[in-house]
Amino acid sequence: MTKNRIFSGIQPTGNLHLGNYLGAIRNWVQLQHDYECIFCIVDLHALTLPQDPLQLRHSTREVTAAYLAAGIDAEHCIIFNQSMVSAHAELAWLLGCLTPLGWLNRMTQFKEKAPKDRSNAGLGLYAYPVLMAADILAYKATHVPVGEDQKQHLELARDIAGAFNRRYEQDFFPLPEPQIFGPATRVMSLRDGMKKMSKSDTSDYSRINMTDDADAIALKIRRAKTDPEPLPDTLAALEERPEADNLVGIYAALAGESQEAALRRFAGQNFSTFKDALSELAVEVLGKVGGEMRRLMADPGHIDTVLRHGAERAAAISMPVLRAAQEITGLLRP
Ligand code: AMP
Ligand code: TRP
Repeated sequence: MTKNRIFSGIQPTGNLHLGNYLGAIRNWVQLQHDYECIFCIVDLHALTLPQDPLQLRHSTREVTAAYLAAGIDAEHCIIFNQSMVSAHAELAWLLGCLTPLGWLNRMTQFKEKAPKDRSNAGLGLYAYPVLMAADILAYKATHVPVGEDQKQHLELARDIAGAFNRRYEQDFFPLPEPQIFGPATRVMSLRDGMKKMSKSDTSDYSRINMTDDADAIALKIRRAKTDPEPLPDTLAALEERPEADNLVGIYAALAGESQEAALRRFAGQNFSTFKDALSELAVEVLGKVGGEMRRLMADPGHIDTVLRHGAERAAAISMPVLRAAQEITGLLRP
């Protein structure tokens, strides 16, 4: 078995945004050279909230296009959609039987996404972190690069792996390590510095989409909430101003430099100068990716071929892991 294997995924639920790019996809592009990488489009996870079937299929192809457009090499890495490989759902059952409700009750994302009346929340939404653990463990992945919002789910995946290993008294699953890095591990909404940039935000101005054109990017950055003061010259002072902090973090991530280096460029300057520079940089980086996504989306047949090929390679790794887990668990396969 390879020592270092990465697994990560994104839900095909609507607009991919700058947070997905800076918090996840862009880091993956770098990591593909140093690890064996498996990148999934987690369509079963998307079903935890209601989806329009046509839109779900479209989004599945769009996330695939984003991976490819960002520079993930589908020959070198494995790119596939989750529902094509049954090991995920099957292993989730085995793991769910070892997961105490108390662990799931702690998950903050469930509390955010579930309706106020909990009796109306779907079982899938509640069990979602178990499926995520199965995604990772079915490949015995050692590293999982994600944005900060997934940290708690990853800790749970480690706990679940440990529970399986203890229950059956063997070191079967490695405990996966989260990889959360870069200055943009949590990109915030452009309208509210206390809220995460998210696919589901109803305000168009809250989020820069990966497919936005230059005009849309520039307009959203111009409209981004700020305060009247010029940019400060210390990180400590910046941290007290969430909106400013977020924009400088975005600049740093796009430029591939530290938050400190980015702040040094703009300390003492007013926001209009800074926003112009930020727009220019965002258009330069995202413009290319968005254009390539649109080009790829014009040929869905090609995308489907990539996914089919990826699913075969993914199944070749995870189905044997599932079979071994079934064997350990005592399920008879006559
Ligand atoms: P999701 O959009 O929930 O499917 O998330 C896909 C990936 O993008 C995960 O690794 C998330 O942690 C990451 N991500 C989502 N939103 C943000 C954000 N606002 N800032 C940074 N990373 C994010
Ligand atoms: N839960 C992740 C999110 O919403 C997506 C995801 C599903 C994932 N399975 C995964 C991420 C496995 C990393 C590894 O962002």
